[in-house]
Amino acid sequence: MKLKAAEKLLIRSPLRAYMLRRLEAPRVLSGLDVGERSVCLDIGCGSGMSTLLINEHLNCGKVLGIDIDPEMVTAAEEYVSHPPRWARNIRTDNIEFLCADATSSPFPDSHFDAIFLFGALHHIKEWKNVISEVYRALKEGGVFSFVEEPLVPDHLSRFGQSAYELVLIGAVPISEKELKAALEKGEFSIQHSERFWSVCFVRATKEGGNRHP
Ligand SMILES: C[S@@+](CC[C@H](N)C(=O)[O-])C[C@H]1O[C@@H](n2cnc3c(N)ncnc32)[C@H](O)[C@@H]1O
Repeated sequence: MKLKAAEKLLIRSPLRAYMLRRLEAPRVLSGLDVGERSVCLDIGCGSGMSTLLINEHLNCGKVLGIDIDPEMVTAAEEYVSHPPRWARNIRTDNIEFLCADATSSPFPDSHFDAIFLFGALHHIKEWKNVISEVYRALKEGGVFSFVEEPLVPDHLSRFGQSAYELVLIGAVPISEKELKAALEKGEFSIQHSERFWSVCFVRATKEGGNRHP
């Protein structure tokens, strides 16, 4: 789903920059063994800030940011070619953006060493297809590290999906339990999962085999 105008403002705001830089990027990107020849993907790149932060934390060969909204792809290209002052020393020559749908991405099988996602899943109704696509496009042993919000608490599931959709103003309700089940139904092995208020950080690796979520 494309973002509404207010959401587009929010993801370009100083508050979003603060959240991404101080809370999310350090947890999603720290301690990863991603080498200088690696190819990495940022799903739902939005403003391009999360894509740039991948380069701040990791020494990747290439970083690709995709977004379904052509307006966001243009904004991300502009952001990276004129980064804010705090980001001026971050490498940008290996970053590319592409307009693509994460539920049916154009990438070959086993293409990426690492795939990242910063809060895009709850904007995608077919979010389980994204997990299948991530699995398909990751190399064996590759890592899928992401942060997702807002997750519906498992103990509230008795109130039904429509109640959440109302409360979450159009966001797709995903519970932590559902998320882990979708990852485990495939061959993902969950290495780490951490809850911080309503935000959930997950790191999973692609194990061998043919099953998909
Ligand atoms: C909440 S924003 C997150 C942006 C950025 N990652 C950040 O952390 O600020 C979610 C982004 O996902 C994009 N998106 C929604 N559905 C998508 C899909 N099916 N495929 C790719 N991107 C999608 C939206 O256009 C939006 O830019």
